[in-house]
Amino acid sequence: MTSAVRAAADAFVRQHGLAGGILDTAALLRTFENEMLNGLAGRPGSLAMIPTFIPIEREVPADTPVLVMDAGGTNLRVATVVFHKTGKPEVGDFAKYPMPGLSRTYSATEFFDELAERLLPAAGRARHIGFCFSYPAEITPDGDGRLLYWTKEVQAPEVVGQSLGSRLVAALATRGCGGQSVTILNDTVATLLAGKSAGAARRCSSYVGFILGTGTNTAYVEQNARITKRSDLAPGGAQAINVESGNFAGGPQGDLDRALDAATANPGRQTFEKMVSGAYLGGIGWQALQAAAREGCVSAPAAALIKTLPALSTIELDHFVTNPFLKGPLAGPDLTDADREFVWHVFTAIIDRAARLAAINIAAAVLKSGAGTSPLYPVCVNIDGSTVHKTHGFMATMEAQLRALLDARGVACHLTHVDEAPVIGAAVAALMRG
Ligand code: BGC
Repeated sequence: MTSAVRAAADAFVRQHGLAGGILDTAALLRTFENEMLNGLAGRPGSLAMIPTFIPIEREVPADTPVLVMDAGGTNLRVATVVFHKTGKPEVGDFAKYPMPGLSRTYSATEFFDELAERLLPAAGRARHIGFCFSYPAEITPDGDGRLLYWTKEVQAPEVVGQSLGSRLVAALATRGCGGQSVTILNDTVATLLAGKSAGAARRCSSYVGFILGTGTNTAYVEQNARITKRSDLAPGGAQAINVESGNFAGGPQGDLDRALDAATANPGRQTFEKMVSGAYLGGIGWQALQAAAREGCVSAPAAALIKTLPALSTIELDHFVTNPFLKGPLAGPDLTDADREFVWHVFTAIIDRAARLAAINIAAAVLKSGAGTSPLYPVCVNIDGSTVHKTHGFMATMEAQLRALLDARGVACHLTHVDEAPVIGAAVAALMRG
């Protein structure tokens, strides 16, 4: 049975464009690098390549508390952070809430009021706020940021175009607790800074922050002279760039990717993210199940069950791959062993393709940094996000693919993970700005 089922599943994933093994890796990497160049030059393209005005070489002052707000894809987190003289961070006042705008639509006033309410209990403890914002925002040289568009299905349309830092401080001021300076930074930039701050002992020649959780994105360090779309940058300097790689338009979508995209809040945008990240992998799995049921690839009872499934989460997809009999909507007796094996191959292919695409994304950022040409001084890649770390087999495939791509170009990388990277990195950014 095994080889026949496997052959049928392989044919199915190829037909629907889900097979990672047939990706033209070299061509995709070239397209990625070209799109990065377009974004730096301000030419039309899918990568925003947002300057952050965060140079990464500054000292982080010790013993100075800073407030941190972390607006992520699922949670809104608040903390205070202080770095001791040893460089070790201490996190206090930690609190976690749901991200506003996920369960219902928020107005801009409601959105900023809720952020202010969450920050209020700790707001008196520090003058600086590091605001880690996990969405595309254009950063201004004063450290504020303007939301370009929402991703990850957040519903708060009025917030688009608003200055996040000044609205937050205004909402705090109406509660008698304003006046702070705010540094807005993307979560990948925070991850990059956390990697640098935690990894001082390893002599790295550059730094990349990569996130693959609910959404995906990358930050790396670029020479100001190469950010040709701006004429106001100090020519000898360098700064972190928020690539917004989730919007890369070169990912080879199949019909199921397109069906998934059409059903999201932002069709046509973030199409790369929709092939790789936690908000969507389960959705691709659901699309694949429906196609398998339609096309007669599974037994009649399995098809009947599949047609009643309203959705599939990435966690359910992962549980199935980890143990197809244990729990979740597909664990019951309606699936024969042949059905189960077919679905297992399809879900594994979805994860495998995502891991290969993620490796291409990271490789493009590492190569664009121009660093890592000696193994003594690799490029540090700090990797954050639940999907990359918790999904069955993801990290192993991604790392193997990444190393192969970089080895071929004679470039070395050092992969790392820092607990609470967005919180630590946001504190670093706010303290460096001072
Ligand atoms: C957002 C990025 C963010 C990434 C990871 C994407 O949906 O556009 O700004 O860095 O998710 O959280």
